[in-house]
Amino acid sequence: MPHLSELHGAATHLAVVAIPLFAILHFVRRAGRGGAAVVGAEPWALGAAVLGVAASGATGLLVWGQAQTELRGQHFRLGNAHFWLGIAIAVLAVLAAGDWWRSRRADGVDHRPVIVPILAVLVVVGVVVQGYLGGRMTYEHGVGVYDGGQLAQSATGASRLHVALATGTPMVQAGKAAFSAQGLGCARCHGDLAQGLRAPPLAGGRELPDFRRVHQHGLFPSSVVTDRDFAAIDAWLKTLAPAGRRD
Ligand code: HEC
Repeated sequence: MPHLSELHGAATHLAVVAIPLFAILHFVRRAGRGGAAVVGAEPWALGAAVLGVAASGATGLLVWGQAQTELRGQHFRLGNAHFWLGIAIAVLAVLAAGDWWRSRRADGVDHRPVIVPILAVLVVVGVVVQGYLGGRMTYEHGVGVYDGGQLAQSATGASRLHVALATGTPMVQAGKAAFSAQGLGCARCHGDLAQGLRAPPLAGGRELPDFRRVHQHGLFPSSVVTDRDFAAIDAWLKTLAPAGRRD
């Protein structure tokens, strides 16, 4: 389901493109190169940069609420750093825009604001760091990942499997249910009978390290799908004839 916080991703990209673009155009023009095209493009890039910063800030506040409730303990420092760096970038960008505008000459050609180059470099560095921090928040900690995304099915599928194993359901039967689209959903990629679909066939069984190599840092971290869970699934996979030997 779409929700509002992904607008932050959309909005930041305007700033991410426009800020370095402005910096490049500004330095090119100061170096006396690029001609009228660069002179004409520079104010547009600056306008887009300021608009991008404003849009990033406004949409960032939507995600900020989620960071408060989704980053546990010390991890919240990441959110704080991202927040204050965002404010700093916005202030520097507005200062740069103000200085650029003030030093504009009537002919609009030869103006050389003093602090804009320094601010431009600072803001570009800030944007890179900000993107890294935002990436950590999203991709490592899942801030703004609505309803847990695909990982939610891993959690419910694993807990169903744990209950089945704890209540004495035979391994093969519990593993088969876990493999299905209603369980951990392996079947959605590997095929209902593990015959291979978008993902390789698993019929005949696979080793735990192969499973971990592919899925540990993705859908099935070992904190959610345990070695025993895999063993149950593998017990079922072993009952299936490997591809090419089905007769
Ligand atoms: C979203 C799709 C998807 C789901 C769901 C999925 N897999 Fe996979 N899996 C893949 C893909 C793609 C590969 C091949 C990746 C590669 O080899 O780099 C793979 C590879 C594997 C491998 C290694 C195969 C080999 O021959 O080395 C194992 C084992 C495996 N998956 C087990 C599972 C199990 C068990 C589940 C369910 C708990 C599961 N997978 C769910 C996509 C999926």
